[in-house]
Order: sequence, then structure tokens, then C-alpha cells
Amino acid sequence: MPSRVVRWGRYHEQGTHRLSRKPAESLKAKRDANPLPRDNPENEGTVKTKITKARFPFIKTMEEFDFSFQPSIREKEIISLGSLDFVAKKENIIFLGPPGVGKTHLSIALGVKACMAKYRVGFVTVQKLLEELLLSAKDGSLLDKLLGYSRLNLLIIDELGYMPVTKEQANLLFRLISMRYEKGSIILTSNYNFDEWGEIFSDQVVAAAIIDRLVHHAHIFYINGTSYRLKGKLRASTDY
Ligand SMILES: Nc1ncnc2c1ncn2[C@@H]1O[C@H](COP(=O)(O)OP(=O)(O)OP(=O)(O)O)[C@@H](O)[C@H]1O
Ligand SMILES: [Mg+2]
Repeated sequence: MPSRVVRWGRYHEQGTHRLSRKPAESLKAKRDANPLPRDNPENEGTVKTKITKARFPFIKTMEEFDFSFQPSIREKEIISLGSLDFVAKKENIIFLGPPGVGKTHLSIALGVKACMAKYRVGFVTVQKLLEELLLSAKDGSLLDKLLGYSRLNLLIIDELGYMPVTKEQANLLFRLISMRYEKGSIILTSNYNFDEWGEIFSDQVVAAAIIDRLVHHAHIFYINGTSYRLKGKLRASTDY
């Protein structure tokens, strides 16, 4: 059972082979039958490209995450999500919790794994996404922009709630989430619980419609803990 959310409110914070008549095809068939191992330099180049294209703000891995520091996170479920079945099934992941509890870290770690599996991945903050959508709505390129985001296998949308969202922006976000619904995975992070999303979007109806589509096939994590950024620092201050 997921742990209950504490209302945190608005805390902001290849070999020798005779060539056949169709050498290219025969090489391709061989490659398909023998996928390149992960550490093959040819494979690495592609993974690097995927990671660059994903535009992660920094790289984090699952191995770097200290689950003992955040016991409210269901570790086994997070580790099993690393198999990326959720991407194949076009399911979503929602991380909700106060600042510094590892929402972005875990999202990036899963995103990096998806890049290694050659999925098309994108990372964007809500603020940047909404600025982009608004600009493209103004210059007539909105459909192209939405289609671009729809082509990703996994879209990570980070930091919902840190900035207010206008009604127009909420409608644009709704269009994006509707286009991806059951077609591609989203990982979304927020410092607000679902019942507070109406306030973020200044529109209860659009908030409810967005939540409905996001949570239909979703793994939801309510993270309830202390900021890792403050690890050791609070104790140090009380030592005086
Ligand atoms: N359990 C953990 N083990 C190791 N590092 C962690 C852990 N939790 C967080 N961190 C690190 O602490 C920093 C803050 O974590 P992160 O950015 O993921 O927090 P967040 O929940 O996204 O916070 P915010 O809401 O402020 O964006 C990062 O450098 C991250 O790698
Ligand atoms: Mg974050």
C-alpha cells in the first residue's frame, strides 16, 4: 500500500562470411539476430546520442539512490520499473512529494535506463514546456511541437507546481497529455498532491481531466520524507 500523503502545501522550495547477393540485408539480419552487447562501442554511441537528445539537466543513476534515506519509497517497485515494462506498456509514473526527496533523481535514473534500451526520451520542466507550447501556439507551430513531444516513448515532465499555470497554459498541457494518453509514457513530478492541482491550474475541470488521463495507467509514489539536500545539515545546526 502506498503511504499516505502528508499535505505539504506550497513548500517551494561481426566474422568472415561470404557475401550474399544482398550484403546489406544479410548483415542487418545478422545484427538483428545478435543484438550488440551494451558495452559495444557502436551501441554506446547510440546510447550517448539518446541521452544527449533527452536533455537531462544532469545524469543520475538508480545505483546512486540511497533508498534507506527515503523509506516511504517502495524500493522493489522502483527497481522493477527499471525493467522498463512501463514504457512498453505506455504506463505513467507520478512522483509526488516535498522538495529534495529524490523525485527528479529517480525520474532521470529511469530516463537514462530507457535511453540505454534505445527508447526515445525527453526531459523538460513544466515551466519550459509551457513556455514552448505558448510560443508555438502564437507562431502557428503548435501542432508540430505537440507531434514532436508525442513521438517520444518517454516524456519526463518535472516540477509541476513550482510556478502558477494560466488557464491557456493548462489547456495546452491538457492537449499534450491527451495526445500521449495510452500512446506513450509520462513521468511527472510535483510537490503538490492531486487534490491541490486545481489551484495550480486555476481550473478544477482541466485539472481533473489531466489527472484522469495521467493516473488511468500509472504507478503513483507519494514520497514522504526529509530533503536529501538537508542531509546532515540540520543535525549539524542543532549540535551548537
Ligand atoms: N535518497 C537519495 N539518495 C541519494 N541522493 C539523493 C536522494 N534523494 C535525493 N538525492 C539527491 O539530492 C538532490 C535533490 O534531489 P532531487 O532533485 O531528486 O529532489 P526533488 O524531489 O526533485 O526536489 P525538488 O522538488 O526540489 O525538485 C539531488 O542531488 C539528488 O541526487
Ligand atoms: Mg526536482
